Amino acid sequence: MKTRVTELLGIECPIIQGGMAWVAEHHLAAAVSEAGGLGLIGGANAPGEVVREEIRKARELTKKPFGVNVMLMSPHADDVAKVVVEEGIKVVTTGAGNPGKYMEMWKAAGIKVIPVVASVALARMMEKGGADAVIAEGMESGGHIGEATTMTLVPQVADAVSIPVIAAGGIGDGRGIAAAFMLGAEAVQMGTRFVVAKESIVHPGYKERIIKAKDIDSTVTGRTHGHPVRCLRNQMTRDYIKMEQEGKSFEELEYLTLGTLRKAVMEGDTVNGTVMAGQIAGMIKKEQTCKEMIDEMMAEAVQLLHR
Ligand SMILES: Cc1cc2nc3c(=O)[nH]c(=O)nc-3n(C[C@H](O)[C@H](O)[C@H](O)COP(=O)(O)O)c2cc1C
Repeated sequence: MKTRVTELLGIECPIIQGGMAWVAEHHLAAAVSEAGGLGLIGGANAPGEVVREEIRKARELTKKPFGVNVMLMSPHADDVAKVVVEEGIKVVTTGAGNPGKYMEMWKAAGIKVIPVVASVALARMMEKGGADAVIAEGMESGGHIGEATTMTLVPQVADAVSIPVIAAGGIGDGRGIAAAFMLGAEAVQMGTRFVVAKESIVHPGYKERIIKAKDIDSTVTGRTHGHPVRCLRNQMTRDYIKMEQEGKSFEELEYLTLGTLRKAVMEGDTVNGTVMAGQIAGMIKKEQTCKEMIDEMMAEAVQLLHR
C-alpha cells in the first residue's frame, strides 16, 4: 500500500505508532519499525540525554527508520530538538504547540516534520510553516486531546491542506484504517492498540485494564482548565472530576496527577494512576506482537479497500 506518506518516510505500511509518554520507548519503536510501520520514541518530558540513549538503543534493534515525538511544552524541548539533529533522526512528530522555532534547524538536517493538529486552522498554519505532513488527531484518542472527532476532523483537514494527512484517534483495526483512507488520510497513527503489544514494556496490569475495557470506559479529565486528557475511568479520574466540579485550581489538579502516568505504566497502579487510553480500548482484546498486529490490520484494510 504505497501512499505519499510511505514514500516520504521510507516505510512499507502506512501505520505510525504514536510517540506516547513513558510507553513509546526503544523496544516498542524498534518493533513497530521492524514490522514495516514507523515506530516513534516519545520524548515527553525526558531530558535530551535520555532521548539520545533511547535513540541509540533503538538503533541496536533495527536498521529501519524510526522517529521521535518532541513534546514542545517540555522544559527540555530545546535540548531534545538538538539531540534529534545530532543523532541523525529523519522523522519528527510534534505535540502540544507550534514547532516553528525549530523548523529551520530540522529542515537543514533533512528531517521530515509532522506536527499533530486538532483543528483545520492549526493544520493550515503548519503547512505554511513548512511541515511535510500533519497528523489530524480526533478526541477519541488516548492522552491529550482536542474537541473534534476523527470522523469530522480528517476530511476537513484533508480538504484544507495539500500536504499528506495522517489520521489518529479511534483507529484499532483494518476497518479503521480503511475508513481513515476513505476520509482522505494517507496513513494512520495508532496509540492505544500498541500499548498492549508484546514488545511494549507497559506493566501487565495496565495492559489488562485496556484489554478488559468496554466501549464507554474512557473519560476526559481537565476540560475545565483547557487541558483535556482521555484515560480509563478509575479512582483517580473520579477524584479529579470531583475536584474540577468543586472549582479547584489548575495547580491543585496538576498536583493530583503528578507522576501518575508513570505510576500506571511502570508500577501497574490502575486505581490511582493515570491509565491513558482511547475510546478504541473497548475493541482491543489481546496482546500480540507488533508484527502480528500490523500484518493482520494491513490484510484487513487492503481487502476492504479493494471491495
Ligand atoms: C498512553 C498514551 C500516551 C500518549 N502520549 C503522547 C505524547 O507524549 N505525545 C503525543 O504527541 N501523543 C501522545 N499520545 C497520543 C498518541 O500518540 C496517538 O496520537 C493516539 O493514541 C491515537 O489515538 P488512539 O489512542 O485512539 O490510537 C499518547 C497516547 C497514549 C494512549
